[in-house]
Amino acid sequence: MRTDKRKVALIGTGMVGMSYAYSMLNQNICNELVLIDINRKRAEGEAMDLNHGLAFSASNMKIYAGEYKDTSDADIAVICAGVAQKPGESRLNLLKRNAAVFKSIVDPITESGFNGIFLVATNPVDIMTRITYSLSGFNPRRVLGSGTALDTARLRYLLGESLSVDPRNVHAYVMGEHGDSEFVPWSQAMIATKPILSLCDEQGEGGMEVICGDELKRIEEDVRGAAYQIIEAKSATYYGIGMALSRITRAILGDENSVLTVSAMLRGEYGQNDVYAGVPCIINKNGIFRVLPLDLNEEEKKRLGESCDTLRASFDELEK
Ligand code: LAC
Repeated sequence: MRTDKRKVALIGTGMVGMSYAYSMLNQNICNELVLIDINRKRAEGEAMDLNHGLAFSASNMKIYAGEYKDTSDADIAVICAGVAQKPGESRLNLLKRNAAVFKSIVDPITESGFNGIFLVATNPVDIMTRITYSLSGFNPRRVLGSGTALDTARLRYLLGESLSVDPRNVHAYVMGEHGDSEFVPWSQAMIATKPILSLCDEQGEGGMEVICGDELKRIEEDVRGAAYQIIEAKSATYYGIGMALSRITRAILGDENSVLTVSAMLRGEYGQNDVYAGVPCIINKNGIFRVLPLDLNEEEKKRLGESCDTLRASFDELEK
């Protein structure tokens, strides 16, 4: 791992990949970014376009179109390649179409001698991350997915709006599948250290807007439906996920030990095994330093178990 070099290889220069690249350029997150795409000409065009913005940014990133051999000395390989979700299509429906593409991506990366961290964004992300883990043979702590990082950001934004609190002071997580079976463990949702559930019992206290069951349910449903709503309106989502990916990249390259809800292999945490799902993790230069086990109540543990069962079932379906 060469954190001094801060080299990122991006595979897939579609809207998600390029939103990520653009946000990396604007935030000066890495020193070197190689763009790899099955359509080489497209990657070259994207590299040119970004390079022309360099003079306006605070960054002196080296950006170029490359090949899989260029991943050999990268710190992170970020996979955004894959076919897009159609309106109304569930993320799990995408699975078979995207699984086939991944072998042709992960194999040449590992064959190049790549020894960094895989970060996967392609949907259905939990399954695609698990496929990347299986294909690469890497330690699972060095293979992670964007998971529910974006869903968690959506949740904090909506709670912040509803409560008139800066989302940075809202501590709440979306867990499980990045998709229909995801859920919010409300017992663990806080404003600073104040449990959000306790606000329901304190009508109007401290001038804070009262937020109760129905409103929380609505917010949770809005988070779950956000991607569908955006796809309905503009055919795809990309800025949010691009920024979630650059946040995760920053935590890795900066060796930050930041808590982010990424898709991680569960190995006994929450009583789950052999499944990749979105859970709060401590992220540093080694990838997932550790999964942070929250004190979920019985009902929440059950919800997580159900979400993990859904993910296991679709992975098993694929293996058939
Ligand atoms: C979303 C896509 C990334 O949730 O699945 O916006």
